[in-house]
Amino acid sequence: MSLFPEGRRSLTAYAYQLGPAFAYQPAHRYIAADIDVSEGVWLDIGCGPGWLAIFAGAGKPELDVIGIDTSKTMIGIAENNKAGRLNITFREMSGADIVYPAHTFDVVTAVQTAHHWQDPAAILTEAYRVMKPGGKLYIYEADPDAQVPADWIRRRGVWPTDGVLRRRWKKWGMDQARWNGLKAAVLASPFGQAASADPDENISDERHGFYRRMVCTRPA
Ligand SMILES: C[S@@+](CC[C@H](N)C(=O)[O-])C[C@H]1O[C@@H](n2cnc3c(N)ncnc32)[C@H](O)[C@@H]1O
Repeated sequence: MSLFPEGRRSLTAYAYQLGPAFAYQPAHRYIAADIDVSEGVWLDIGCGPGWLAIFAGAGKPELDVIGIDTSKTMIGIAENNKAGRLNITFREMSGADIVYPAHTFDVVTAVQTAHHWQDPAAILTEAYRVMKPGGKLYIYEADPDAQVPADWIRRRGVWPTDGVLRRRWKKWGMDQARWNGLKAAVLASPFGQAASADPDENISDERHGFYRRMVCTRPA
């Protein structure tokens, strides 16, 4: 049996767990606190090592949080990080093919994963389908031009510096052109096209910490 069953993807997942996932933990705490849902069901698409799901569900027995990711290794890391918390579940699954029935989730999040999506239209359609009427999808992508709020990053000594973070975000976040492309995909999805949708009302484009954020509400 191979130590790294997914090969290169596994190595990337372990590197992410030790690097960015460590550094972004305060950011994930702020996102969980800002969304501030304490009951119902929350889906995190592209959960990676699982910290957002873990912070979202901490101390909230009335809330079930489900993190999904296409990487089996990431799901294994997330399972380890959750340390037995019962209201948090991680499953290997694509956001483009979610096994849950329609109208299951109160909140859907997608943090720093949209830049990986091969078929954003399929994921947005699925996010809409599984969301309860009135539920919200939060999409976050790091902005290469944003300032780095000091308390949003956990550092080992002075590492990572602000300069290193911004260089990473140029590579892995979304510049304005890519963000505009994602927004166009959101507008073309059921969030913008459903009969009851009013994109001016139910899609907002804003900033939170060092992220660009889109909040897409499924009309009630
Ligand atoms: C940069 S990591 C971000 C992880 C986590 N959300 C965070 O903020 O730390 C991006 C993750 O998205 C996952 N991913 C990419 N495409 C996906 C898809 N279609 N469905 C679910 N997960 C996906 C990748 O496997 C990877 O773990």
